[in-house]
Amino acid sequence: MSQTASHPRAKVAVLISGTGSNMAALLYASRRADCPYEIVLIASNDPEAKGLRLAEAEGVATFSLAHKGMKRADHDIAMEKAVLESGAQYIALAGYMRILSPQFVSQWEGRMLNIHPSLLPKYKGLDTHARAIEAGDSHAGCSVHLVTAELDDGPVLGQTPVAIMPGDTPETLGGRVLYAEHQLYSRMLEELVTRPFRADWLLQKVSELALCLPEVEARESHGSPAWRTGGKSGKFFAHFSERHHGEPHVAVLVKTDGPDEMTALIERDPEIWFRPAYYGASGWAGLILNRPGVDWDHVRSWLERSWRSVAPRRLTGLMDAADQF
Ligand code: GAR
Repeated sequence: MSQTASHPRAKVAVLISGTGSNMAALLYASRRADCPYEIVLIASNDPEAKGLRLAEAEGVATFSLAHKGMKRADHDIAMEKAVLESGAQYIALAGYMRILSPQFVSQWEGRMLNIHPSLLPKYKGLDTHARAIEAGDSHAGCSVHLVTAELDDGPVLGQTPVAIMPGDTPETLGGRVLYAEHQLYSRMLEELVTRPFRADWLLQKVSELALCLPEVEARESHGSPAWRTGGKSGKFFAHFSERHHGEPHVAVLVKTDGPDEMTALIERDPEIWFRPAYYGASGWAGLILNRPGVDWDHVRSWLERSWRSVAPRRLTGLMDAADQF
């Protein structure tokens, strides 16, 4: 994780309903000196949840609020308030046996993950191990996924299959699946929180956005990924720059109107823009990507602007027409 060592640890709130063994696994993983996240809150919908006592003993802040007698949305709002007050940037659901309101889920989209004891998309919901045994499956397992409005349905970040043995009961199988859960969850959480700083992930994001523009092709330029307009006379409109020439930045270089505009951008937002070595002279500005809170719509609009500055009329005209709708 040396790449992330210079970034502050991501703050994570863990929501539990019961034992909290996954929470404990996440917590103890976070005690590694180079772990890229820290747990700032353990919250529960059950004040008696065993996991809360462990959190207290380990000196982690706790919050609990029984959901009984409360409207789902109101309970979610109270939980979310505690999460926000803790400063958490991510939420890990760890045996949190509540269906969340769509409002709560959409606020945290991409920043809330869950662990589920099956190989999704198989066996959403409850009694997963009994259903896997009943179906005669060779393997059960666990999945870590991003939480979306649909129950146990968001994009899967990782899975571990666990063999079903002759004579397994839901309890014996579930016990082994838990070992797998404890290994998988912290890795996937680390993967998620380091994404915004990892060049491989940032490159993939930029590439997706660049390739959405009409007739664009990816082509290496000076050994780095770059994108240009298509055809024989294609022109580059974006270069990916990964810590070039001793720069600390992972960035995409886009075309400005010229050095004056670039200087103005850098003066206004020095944490977002920089003047790249060599390219800067001809008005290419570096849009820094390995920083917290990148606004991807902003990146998208700069890629489009840069593309427009070199794309043939035939194509920009088409885009203008599409934009009218
Ligand atoms: C875990 O097996 C987890 O995957 C499951 O509850 C258990 C919680 O155990 N979660 C779900 O079924 C969510 N749909 P723990 O409290 O010891 O972590």
